[in-house]
Amino acid sequence: MRVMITGGLGFIGSHLVRWILQHEPEVDIINVDALTYAGNPANLRDLEEDPRYQWHRVSITDEAAIDQLLSSYPVDAIMHLAAESHVDRSIQSGMPFVQTNVMGTQVLLEAARRHRVGRFIQVSTDEVYGSLGPTGYFSEDSPLAPNSPYSASKAGADWLALAAFHTYGQEVMVTRCSNNYGPYQFPEKLIPLFVTNGLEGKPWPLYGDGLNIRDWLHVVDHVRALWMVLQSGQPGQVYNIGGHNEHTNRQIAQTLAELMQLPSSIIVPVPDRLGHDRRYAIDAQKIRRELGWEPEISWMQGLSGTVAWYHAHSDWWQPIKSGAYLEYYRTQYGDL
Ligand code: NAD
Ligand code: TYD
Repeated sequence: MRVMITGGLGFIGSHLVRWILQHEPEVDIINVDALTYAGNPANLRDLEEDPRYQWHRVSITDEAAIDQLLSSYPVDAIMHLAAESHVDRSIQSGMPFVQTNVMGTQVLLEAARRHRVGRFIQVSTDEVYGSLGPTGYFSEDSPLAPNSPYSASKAGADWLALAAFHTYGQEVMVTRCSNNYGPYQFPEKLIPLFVTNGLEGKPWPLYGDGLNIRDWLHVVDHVRALWMVLQSGQPGQVYNIGGHNEHTNRQIAQTLAELMQLPSSIIVPVPDRLGHDRRYAIDAQKIRRELGWEPEISWMQGLSGTVAWYHAHSDWWQPIKSGAYLEYYRTQYGDL
C-alpha cells in the first residue's frame, strides 16, 4: 500500500510518517511538503535513506505538480495535514491560510478524484467548532462556528472534503483533534515556546487573564488515531479526537515552571490575542466506541517527556529561534 501524506515535515505530519514506517511494514510513504517556515527536513533526517519513504517539495496548491506526482506514484490513500496552522499568524494575515488550507485542500480532493485515490483523510481541528462556555463538549454534530481566519479556513476545507463525499462518493473522512503537544512542535506554539524560552532564560508571555482552556493530547496518540480512521473509518463521517485533558493556560505555565524548576515570576501577562477563543473541549466517544481508540500517554508523562526532549535537542530548536534554520534551508533548497 502507498500513502501520500501532505505536510509530513511539520509537527504532526513528521510523527505520522515515523509512526507508519515503524508500525506498518507494508506501507510506503510519499511526503508532499512545500517546506514553509514550519516544515523542517531535520524532523525526519534519520529516515531519509529509508526506501519506503520519499519527500517531494511540492505545494498542495500546485495542481499540475500534484497531478504529475499522482501519475508517477499512484497512491491508495491521502492523509492531508499540510496547512498554515498558527492562529496568531492568521490574525496578522489570513490570505496564506485561505490559499493553502482552502484552495490546497480542493486541489488535493480534485486530484484524488481524477486519479481514483481510494481514501482521503482531511486532518482538521476542534477549533472549527468555535468557543465553548464553562461547560459542555464539542461533538461531531456541533455546528461549525469558527472564529479566527485559521479556523475559518479549516472549516471551509472540511466542508469541501465532505462535499466531495456527498457529490462524488469519494471516500473522505474528516478528523477533528484537540490541541497537540510533543517533540518537534514549532516553538511558536504555547508549550514549545514556553519550554524553549525557559531554557533560554526568557519570559513566558501569557495572553490575557491566562484562563483560556484547551484540551491537550500527545501527538503520538493523535497519529495513532489517524491511522485507525484510515483503516476503519466510514466514508463521509467526522471523527473527533481528544483525551479529556483540559487545562487553563495559567495551569500549564505553572506546571511547566514546576517541572523546569523555574520561579513563577517567569510568567508575564501580555495583552490578549484578538478574538481569543475561551474554551475548547472534545467529546471523543464516537472514535472510542466505533474504532476502539483510546489515548495512551498521560498528561504528566507526556509533558515531562516533552520538556526532556526540548532540553536534549537544543540543536533542533535553537537554529529555528535564531532564524539560522530558515536561512540554511533557503540556500539549500531555494524558494519554491
Ligand atoms: P505545522 O505548521 O507544524 O506543519 C505544517 C506543514 O505543512 C509544514 O511542514 C509545512 O511546510 C507544510 N505546508 C504548509 N503549506 C504547504 C503547502 N502549501 N503545500 C505543502 N506543504 C505545506 O502543523 P501541525 O501542527 O503539524 O498541523 C498539521 C495539521 O493538523 C494541520 O492541518 C492542522 O490544522 C491540524 N491540527 C493541528 C493541531 C495542533 O495542535 N497542532 C491540532 C489539530 C489539528
Ligand atoms: P497555541 O499553542 O497557539 O494553540 P491554539 O491557539 O491553536 O489553541 O495557543 C494555545 C493557548 O495558549 C491559546 O489559548 C493561546 C495561548 N498562548 C499564550 O498565552 N501565550 C503564547 O505565547 C502563545 C503562543 C499562546
